[in-house]
Amino acid sequence: MKLIDGKKINQEVKAEIAKEVEEMVAKGLKRPNLAVIMVGEDGASATYVGSKIRTCKEVGFESTDINYPESVTEEEILRKIEEINTNDEIDGLIIQLPLPKHISEDKVIEAIDYKKDVDGFHPINAGRLAMGLPSFLPATPAGIIELLARYNIETEGKNCVVLGRSNIVGTPISLLMSRKAKPGNATVTICHSRTKNIKEICKNADILIAAIGQMEFVTADMVKEGATVIDVGIHRVKSDQTKSGWKIKGDVKFDEVAEKCEYITPVPGGVGPMTIISLLKNTLLAAQNKIY
Ligand code: GUN
Repeated sequence: MKLIDGKKINQEVKAEIAKEVEEMVAKGLKRPNLAVIMVGEDGASATYVGSKIRTCKEVGFESTDINYPESVTEEEILRKIEEINTNDEIDGLIIQLPLPKHISEDKVIEAIDYKKDVDGFHPINAGRLAMGLPSFLPATPAGIIELLARYNIETEGKNCVVLGRSNIVGTPISLLMSRKAKPGNATVTICHSRTKNIKEICKNADILIAAIGQMEFVTADMVKEGATVIDVGIHRVKSDQTKSGWKIKGDVKFDEVAEKCEYITPVPGGVGPMTIISLLKNTLLAAQNKIY
């Protein structure tokens, strides 16, 4: 069994981005600038946003941090998005989700200029991904593809099973795994809450991607000997074995599944560290006009 080290690949990609930024600055170009809008004070969202802003600094990006109270109106957010859309100083814009119930996430996402939509959530980016056209890829699927590529894991002709069909992970990763590219060219099956025989289907997977949002859903009896298992889950549980009093677990029962795998991503330290860096890679591509 080989561990896929997301922290190590994160460092590699981070160094590559930082190097490109310095080359841009040396040529007299401006530093990439990522704008992040956050509404309310949800603890997990605040932690993610803090991490995104901090990582921007580490690679030499500018960032624009915009915070609104929970009570902000949809109109005010839409006005701010329009202002950023037309601001040439800002290359990428994301709105941290989830949003309060009185604000439509769909409307807000559609208001973002798709050329600045570095989360890859705009229907134009999602549609272009489905058609195999250049687009901004959502951060988590992009991070998974980066890990498969850097570990040289063969995907062509393999059976890939994706657990989960969300717009953010399950659907885009299934498109990426089946598209005519490397990594890609896999035969993909998507499983979800209405799937029958999920165990048998998983057992047939050469590559199993778990993004189902249920702690330790994938057990050893669901995994083929020699499979590659990618765990997207993040579940915080109380623990008396750690200093913080918390432990992070995934969608995969790691201890029993790992023994059967050729490759597996740990949680934490697998897919997680790849997501923010993929967002910054998109921001770099936006600043360099490489996608549009
Ligand atoms: N909330 C959870 N994941 C994400 C993400 O990738 N982007 C944004 N904007 N919000 C999120």
